[in-house]
Amino acid sequence: MSEERPRRSELPLHPVLNARYSPRAFSERDVTDAELNLVLEAARWAPSSMNEQPWRFLVTRRGSTGHAELLASLNPSNRIWADKAPVLILNLAKRTLSRNGMENFHARHDLGLATAQLTAQATALGMGLHILGGFQADAAREAFNIPVDFDLVSVIVLGFPGDAQQLPENLIQRELQQSPRRPLNELVFFGEFKG
Ligand SMILES: Cc1cc2nc3c(=O)[nH]c(=O)nc-3n(C[C@H](O)[C@H](O)[C@H](O)COP(=O)(O)O)c2cc1C
Repeated sequence: MSEERPRRSELPLHPVLNARYSPRAFSERDVTDAELNLVLEAARWAPSSMNEQPWRFLVTRRGSTGHAELLASLNPSNRIWADKAPVLILNLAKRTLSRNGMENFHARHDLGLATAQLTAQATALGMGLHILGGFQADAAREAFNIPVDFDLVSVIVLGFPGDAQQLPENLIQRELQQSPRRPLNELVFFGEFKG
């Protein structure tokens, strides 16, 4: 992770959690097959409702099959920096339960858990990872011929963090700043809900 960035929480969080941020600047360094396999394996071991494991990951590497199509589906404001990263991953959630075809209410929840584990493992390896909701799901669905039973939820931009100075002027400061967080007392209630 970039050394210019201050640590985030004042509390002694696990270093992986405290170091993580969503980079836009990526270095030239490629992701090895072993590194890629390890972050995907981390996702595989996430918990899920009824152990359905509704997550699916469509992985593309720059210069290989599908990468141009997935990149083209990103909103231009994301594509402008995401094109420097060596790996893009389309995150999918299976909408129905394999056991009975009923709606899986927790499918997106469980995909989120899996991507959180993927994120932690990637951070532990010194990688940078930026999750995007800003992409055209319909275009990606068509490009990859994805059945209606799968929701196209987000795209992971994966690589190693690079020099912020390579970014367009308006994104440099954003890259170096901490993203704000709500205080715990706005998010957590003990015994009664005060939202
Ligand atoms: C589901 C999801 C969708 C997101 N979509 C975008 C996006 O389209 N473009 C973008 O620049 N960042 C996107 N982000 C990144 C968030 O803006 C970022 O996580 C948030 O500002 C907190 O910053 P941090 O991750 O550096 O702590 C997304 C994050 C998530 C989890």
